[in-house]
Amino acid sequence: MKLLVCGGAGFIGSAFVRRRLHQTADSIVVLDKLTYAGNLANLADIERDPSMAGRYRFVQGDIADPTIVVKLVTEADVDAVVNFAAESHVDRSILDAEAFLRTGVIGVHVLLEATRALAAERAANGKPAPRFLQVSTDEVYGSVPTGQSVETDLLAPASPYSAAKAAGELLVQAYRTTYGLDALITRGSNTYGPFQYPEKVVPLFITNALQGLPLPLYGDGLQRRDWLHVDDHADAIGAVLDRGEPGGIYNVPGTGERTNVDLTRTILAQLDKPWSLVRTVEDRAGHDRRYAMDGSRLAALGWSHQVAFEAGLAETVAWYRDHEAWWRPLLNADWADYYDRQYGKRLAESVPGA
Ligand code: NAD
Ligand code: DAU
Repeated sequence: MKLLVCGGAGFIGSAFVRRRLHQTADSIVVLDKLTYAGNLANLADIERDPSMAGRYRFVQGDIADPTIVVKLVTEADVDAVVNFAAESHVDRSILDAEAFLRTGVIGVHVLLEATRALAAERAANGKPAPRFLQVSTDEVYGSVPTGQSVETDLLAPASPYSAAKAAGELLVQAYRTTYGLDALITRGSNTYGPFQYPEKVVPLFITNALQGLPLPLYGDGLQRRDWLHVDDHADAIGAVLDRGEPGGIYNVPGTGERTNVDLTRTILAQLDKPWSLVRTVEDRAGHDRRYAMDGSRLAALGWSHQVAFEAGLAETVAWYRDHEAWWRPLLNADWADYYDRQYGKRLAESVPGA
């Protein structure tokens, strides 16, 4: 297949591109704006590998820009568009939501329009319809006190981030219903692994611990997340792209729930660092207490987890310890500004972690 992968220079998108080029004969164009979270270093191994480099091309650009999107979707006659592009950090959406809506709503609309035009052209020429896959999140369900979310549950997003993701999903579903677009959605769980920008809790706590800096644990630390290795997440998206029912929505759960306290203890133990680095700080506003999803619809496509949490986390911790040259340059002046806005007051008012 000929794929357009939007947001392919980010954490999960780059894993998808790497694994897809390795596992299939697909050719891939990556469209990425290279925001603070986009990083060409995440794709450097592909450019160096002659078995993959010839089937890969990078284009810098915005999914909300119709000129570039029409060229790469409609004129390029792609078989599928896979959209990872988004502003992805909940805390930043609480500080300023605008970019989340621009990319998550307008950007998704521009991609859908270009795919719709391509579908019409292909239908006129008797060619198969292009697929559209929107990478979404379990956060669209909102907090789940007990049980597990199933794909037919109502959406109840709590943060500006998850509201933007839910809005993008609703547009995708409207294009499926109104125009018959072959559009799919995946809802992934909390993902961890190599090449994750250090704002998210796993890489933040690993890189802070490596530097002897405090680990800012929100509230009581008893919020629960279901951790999913990035390679498993990427392969699940590949399975849905290849074998998903037209119009299907698929949960991608992790391998087991843990509280943030448990997660922090495991990271510190694997780094042989003391609990005294942990600081209890003011909670995230509107903090979802728990996410949990049922994965049977995805399992019916023949997908299953390959990475157990303890082993995956140990490998991730080792990766950050061995790849300081990847993460150190990310801790630049923009990072310091964000860190101060997000954690300055919180850390000044913090108490030792209980
Ligand atoms: P990320 O922040 O690491 O990467 C996002 C990428 O999108 C970056 O390369 C960025 O430059 C690019 N981008 C942002 N705005 C763009 C625009 N307007 N045009 C083109 N490119 C743009 O995010 P991630 O963690 O890899 O997440 C990828 C997707 O998966 C997101 O849609 C996110 O909502 C979803 N998701 C993430 C997780 C997780 O735990 N990280 C879990 C479930 C779902
Ligand atoms: O569930 C899927 C989602 O997972 C994705 O859609 C998002 O893109 C991704 O960012 C992630 O969202 P979370 O908000 O769950 O991830 P984050 O790493 O920001 O936080 C995980 C938990 O850790 C959450 O309960 C908040 C807590 N936390 C986070 C940070 C950054 C802390 O206690 N301290 C912190 O400094």
